Formats: sequence, structure tokens, C-alpha cells
Amino acid sequence: MTMSPAARVRAYCLRVFPTGYSKRCNKTHSLWVQKAVGGHVTAEIQDDLRHIEDGFTGDLEAGLAATWQVLCDGVTQRRSPFHLMTVATVSSGGDPQVRTVVLRGCDQKGKWLRFNTDSRSPKIDDIESNPSASLLFYGAKEKLQIRLKVKLERVGVAERDEMWARTPSYSRECYQVTTAPGSDVRSPEATQFDAHQADGGRENFAPIRARVDELEWLYLSAKRHRRAHYIFTESGVKARWVVP
Ligand SMILES: Cc1cc2nc3c(=O)[nH]c(=O)nc-3n(C[C@H](O)[C@H](O)[C@H](O)COP(=O)(O)O)c2cc1C
Repeated sequence: MTMSPAARVRAYCLRVFPTGYSKRCNKTHSLWVQKAVGGHVTAEIQDDLRHIEDGFTGDLEAGLAATWQVLCDGVTQRRSPFHLMTVATVSSGGDPQVRTVVLRGCDQKGKWLRFNTDSRSPKIDDIESNPSASLLFYGAKEKLQIRLKVKLERVGVAERDEMWARTPSYSRECYQVTTAPGSDVRSPEATQFDAHQADGGRENFAPIRARVDELEWLYLSAKRHRRAHYIFTESGVKARWVVP
């Protein structure tokens, strides 16, 4: 059964703003939401994302729902600043290490995010010696910073193989490089790729799941900055406001 645009807006607002803000969301977001639920993501929608403000000027619950929405949208919205994240790990020698990666998966219910990398890259050694990591996102237009305390783990072989099967050939190429990322090379042109090595790159493909233990958002506003912190435990979520 097809839903009318108004019904889709209502359903969307109820999902994102479950506690009383859905009414306001209906009014102020209907244009953006109608475009977004239409499935066509444009730069214009990214601009309109600023109006997600409602989620971050409501209560703690609305802020958390809006955060997951922004993150999970980031997986598919390539122009979103939340499509990229900074991953901070600690090396076995104790040095902090940061790098940018593409956000590839997000699950609000399971409370995890995912990115892909090469199993030979130095960050894998970091994760093996210390799985604790921090993820950072910042959207300038959205005036929103999201920071997560996570534990990183490689996904199992069966799940990895399923993901690999869905990986297009142009993306597989990255994993067909014959020497480990970060190793010395005589010149950029001397980097070698071999489509027959490591089972076409599959053995080098390492999806990484980030299980979220804590989440924090900071929303910048001329009226008043707002910041909230959430700890996820077995028994539920501990939410609190924090001085920005
Ligand atoms: C826009 C952008 C996106 C990137 N995406 C990824 C990615 O999804 N996975 C990845 O392993 N490296 C990605 N990189 C490269 C990493 O930032 C980093 O240079 C590389 O993974 C080596 O990191 P390491 O030496 O800490 O292992 C990306 C870099 C940029 C600039």
C-alpha cells in the first residue's frame, strides 16, 4: 500500500522524534522529509539537514534518536559529512593514531557502526593490541559533532565473505595491492596490483565493527550550545546533559 506524502512525513517524524516533537517536526520538516523519503538525496537536502535542529533542541531521547538517524543516513548519503568518520586508536607502543574512513554500516538496535579496511594495514595491529577506540564526526552545516567510545572487532569470516560477494569490482581493486598498505614503495607508479592474489583481494578485506559503549553529541547554536552524553549498558541507556 502506498502512503501519502503527509502520512510518510508523520511516520518519519514519529520514528525520529518519538517524544512529543513529532508534531513540530511534521510542520517544520515536511518539505525536507518529503524530499528525503522520496529517496532522492541531493545537495539541497544536505543543506536542509540543518533543520534537523529540532532533534537537538528537544529532550535527551529525541537527541539520541536524531543522532542515530544522522549516522545511519550517513552510510548511504555520500555527500553527508557523516559519510566519513575519524577513527582514533592506540598503537601497541602507546601512540595515538587517527585516520579518516568511510562509514559503511550502522545499526541503531545493535548499537554498532562499521567500516572496511585492509587486513594488512597498521590499524589492524592497533585493534588487536587494544580494541578501545574513539570515533568522531562533524557536520559544519548541521553544527553537530558526534563522538563515540567504541570497541573495534573484525567481523567473522562468513559475514565478511557475504559482504565481499556484494562488493563491486572497482572496490575490490583496493584489496588487490600486492604489498601491505603503509609499506615502502619506490614510487607511486611502482605500486603493484594482482587480481589473482589473496583470492582476488578477499583475504585482505577486513570489515571492522565498532560496538558503541558511549555516545556524545554537541550541537552548536547561537541561542545556546547543547551537549548530551549517553552510556549504553545491559540494563538500558544512562543519559545526561553535559556543559558544552
Ligand atoms: C576520504 C577518505 C576516506 C578513506 N576511507 C578509508 C576506508 O574506508 N578504509 C581505510 O582503511 N582507509 C581509508 N582511508 C585511508 C585512511 O585514512 C588511512 O590513510 C589508511 O587506512 C591507513 O591507515 P593506518 O595506517 O592507520 O592503518 C580514507 C582516507 C580518506 C582521505
